[in-house]
Amino acid sequence: MRISIPAETDSNETRVAATPETVKKLKGLGAEIAIQAGAGLTSGIPDADYAQAGATIAPDAASTYAGADLVLAVRRPAASALSGVNKGALVISIMDPYGQDAALKDLATAGVSAFAMEFMPRITRAQVMDVLSSQANIAGYRAIVDAAAEYGRALPMMMTAAGTVPAAKIFIMGVGVAGLQAIATARRMGAIVTATDVRPATKEQVESLGAKFLAVEDEEFAQAQTAGGYAKEMSKDYQAKQAALTAAHIAKQDIVITTALIPGRPAPRLITADMVHSMRPGSVIVDLAVERGGNCELAVPGQTFVTDNGVKIVGHLNVPGRLAATASSLYARNLLAFMDTLVNKETKSFAPNWDDELVKATLLTRDGAVVHPNFNKA
Ligand code: NAI
Repeated sequence: MRISIPAETDSNETRVAATPETVKKLKGLGAEIAIQAGAGLTSGIPDADYAQAGATIAPDAASTYAGADLVLAVRRPAASALSGVNKGALVISIMDPYGQDAALKDLATAGVSAFAMEFMPRITRAQVMDVLSSQANIAGYRAIVDAAAEYGRALPMMMTAAGTVPAAKIFIMGVGVAGLQAIATARRMGAIVTATDVRPATKEQVESLGAKFLAVEDEEFAQAQTAGGYAKEMSKDYQAKQAALTAAHIAKQDIVITTALIPGRPAPRLITADMVHSMRPGSVIVDLAVERGGNCELAVPGQTFVTDNGVKIVGHLNVPGRLAATASSLYARNLLAFMDTLVNKETKSFAPNWDDELVKATLLTRDGAVVHPNFNKA
């Protein structure tokens, strides 16, 4: 049973799919581990640490993949890289599969069983495997750290001999996993925090973190949470009311962090150009939804810039990757927990239970075909 961990090929990817800690545990499952030289460097893990944990260091991608029964990666590997893996090998990563029909077909044709970690059901048993949560939590924390670094003033109130510095006002839009961590981090740093969401359940969560909740709490709001716990796309009428309520508030904020997402839809537009122009010079907006279309009309993926009225708009890509060591350690543990369910410990081989709901929810391709119900099987 050979597990291979390639170096990530996307220039923006700093994370790695295994750490010395998980390598040791994977070895404990009876596996032999090959990791590509340098794979951990951007997460602060030198090859020697993997070697000490019992991994073999493979000099290049081809020798890493050769003979693999399981490939663990952060991002979906190109099917062309998988020519050396064993027949029926499992490939597990964040697959980002929507709109990637050709890439999925290629994975199927390569004969691998590809699993998308982001499709892990949010049920109690799988919480430990929830990569969306583990990475969003880091993104929420990092958004505040980035905002604090870009903001030219202090976040906490400071009473000094030279006078008092007021606390910064921070507004968090979207209170899922990232938003909750942003609230908690902003509070720890001494800011005055308000937050909004369209799901009623978030009101109590916001208040329990010591922040103030602000939302249009009408009948539509009462119904905005789906059975799965996610937000629905709101009506035009609600969006207009939400904009009217938040516009006046945003004008008074020093920092706004946006994290709002709707599964399978573009990110909702919450901050218009006019709202940006209403903010004071020196204010900061961090848009965590920038890769999904952006919550702020002016945000640009991968760019930080200052608007003509002096507002800084931050649109970093791969925000969890800006805290790569922490993000990798949690992601690697998410993978390890899933691995544990895929291995037959007696025969020391991979033996997925194809009827397990975790497998069914995450499996994209098998036996040469695309098998996930969300995708075209042709
Ligand atoms: P997400 O990343 O899909 O969205 C972020 C937030 O944006 C959500 O809170 C959503 O309500 C909000 N949003 C959407 N449209 C908005 C709008 N127009 N204005 C303001 N906010 C808007 O959400 P995430 O972080 O994946 O969390 C979704 C749910 O899943 C939450 O209820 C969370 O508590 C739950 N969850 C459950 C877990 C479990 O294992 N049971 C684990 C993690 C999250």
